[in-house]
Amino acid sequence: MSTVDATAGWDRLIEHDRVHGSLYTDPAIYEAELERIWYRTWVFVGHVSEVPEPNDYVVKSIGPQPVIMTRDKQGEIHLLLNRCTHRANLVCDAPRGNSSAFRCPYHGWTFSNTGRLLGYPFNSGYDGREAKRELGLGRVARIGIYEGFVFGSFAEEGPTLLEHLGAAREALDRLVALSPSGELDLSAGWLQHKVKANWKMLVENETDGYHPQFVHSSIFSVAQSGIGELYGEESTALSRDLGNGHTENDLRPEFRRIGQPLGWFGTTPDRVPDYVAQLEAAKGVEQARELLIDGSPHVMLFPNLFIAEIQLFVIQPLAVDETVQHVTAVQYKGAPDMNRRMLQQTIGSVGPAGFLLADDSEMYERNQRGVHARSPEWVVLKRGTHRERLDEDGHLVGDATDEVPQRAIWRHYRRLMEAGA
Ligand code: FES
Ligand code: FE
Repeated sequence: MSTVDATAGWDRLIEHDRVHGSLYTDPAIYEAELERIWYRTWVFVGHVSEVPEPNDYVVKSIGPQPVIMTRDKQGEIHLLLNRCTHRANLVCDAPRGNSSAFRCPYHGWTFSNTGRLLGYPFNSGYDGREAKRELGLGRVARIGIYEGFVFGSFAEEGPTLLEHLGAAREALDRLVALSPSGELDLSAGWLQHKVKANWKMLVENETDGYHPQFVHSSIFSVAQSGIGELYGEESTALSRDLGNGHTENDLRPEFRRIGQPLGWFGTTPDRVPDYVAQLEAAKGVEQARELLIDGSPHVMLFPNLFIAEIQLFVIQPLAVDETVQHVTAVQYKGAPDMNRRMLQQTIGSVGPAGFLLADDSEMYERNQRGVHARSPEWVVLKRGTHRERLDEDGHLVGDATDEVPQRAIWRHYRRLMEAGA
C-alpha cells in the first residue's frame, strides 16, 4: 500500500529530484494517465511509408486502444478505432494489408476504410440513414503528420502537433536529412517485446546516459566500436531537456571531437560506400560529411517514440505493470547498402537473440519488482542537479550521464496530470 495519498496532489508524489514509487504501481494512477496523457496528448502512431498505396492499412494502437491506420483511395491517411460500433469486436486483425473495407467477423457489419458504415445484414432496428451515419467507426479526433510521422490525439482541442513537438522537431529533421532521397521507409515490420514493467520506466531509460556502461558493457566489448566511451565520465556528450517531456542524449559533441562519422554499431562509412556517395551527391560533400559526423539522433519524444540512431522504438502501455516495445530499423528510401547494415544491426541488437534490448528489459522488470518496496519509497533522480545549465538555445543540459532527461520527463508529466485533474 502506498503511504502517500494520490488524491492529495501530484506535488506530494513528484518533487524536482525524486518521485514516489506508487507512480509505477498504482492502478488508479495508471487509469488517470490514460485519460490525461495517452488519450489527450499527441501520440506517435505510425509512418506514411507503412501504407504506401491507396487502400493499404496497418493495425496500430494508442495505449491499449486498438487503431487502424488506413490510406483511402484518394491517398488520404485516416486513424480509425479498431472497434466495431455494434458490440465492440475488432473489425480488423490482419496486421497489414490492402482493402477498401473491413468486415466485422461477429455479425458481419462492413465499414469503409474511411470509417463509414457500408452495410449490415438483417438490419431491422438499425435501419435508416441517420443510424448508418452515427454508426461509422470511431475516429481519433486529430491527426497530424510531420515528415511522414503520423501522430494522433483523442483531444478535439489542444496544442498543435508542431507546438507539441517544439524543439524536438529537429530530431525528426535530422533523421530524414540522413536519407539521400529525403525519405524514410519504415515498412520493414516491427519486433515486439513485452515487459512486466510500468511504461514510464522505459521512457526514463531511453535517454538515460547513466546506465549504458553498466547494463550494456558486454555488448560494448563485443562491438569494439568505442561506443561505450560516449557514456564515460570524460565524455563531452550532453543530456538535454528539449521541452514538453522530450529529451535527448546528444552525442554530437563527442562525435565532433573525435571526428568519427557514423558512430553507431558497424555503420562506419568504409562499410557503406554506396550510401556515402549517394548522400554526397544529394547534399554536397561538405554537408554530407557534417551530417555523417553528427549522425542520427538519440531522442525520446514523449510519450512514446524513441529515435535510437538506427532504430525506432514505440512504447505502448497495456497495464500498470505491462508494456510493449515495438521496434523497427530505420531504412532510407533507395539506400540498399546502408539499409542492409541498419537492418542487420537492429536484428542483431534488439532481435530475439540480441543483447541490447534484453539487457534493458531485465532492468525494467527488476525495477518494477523493487519499486513495490515501501521503505525507502522514493526513486531519486539527483545526478547532475548542481551542474544543470542552459545551452545557447535555452535548453537545460547536463553531462552525458546526468539525470537531466528524467527530471524533465517528470516535470512535464506532472504538468499534464495536474492539467487533467
Ligand atoms: Fe461487429 Fe456485431 S460486433 S457486427
Ligand atoms: Fe539501454
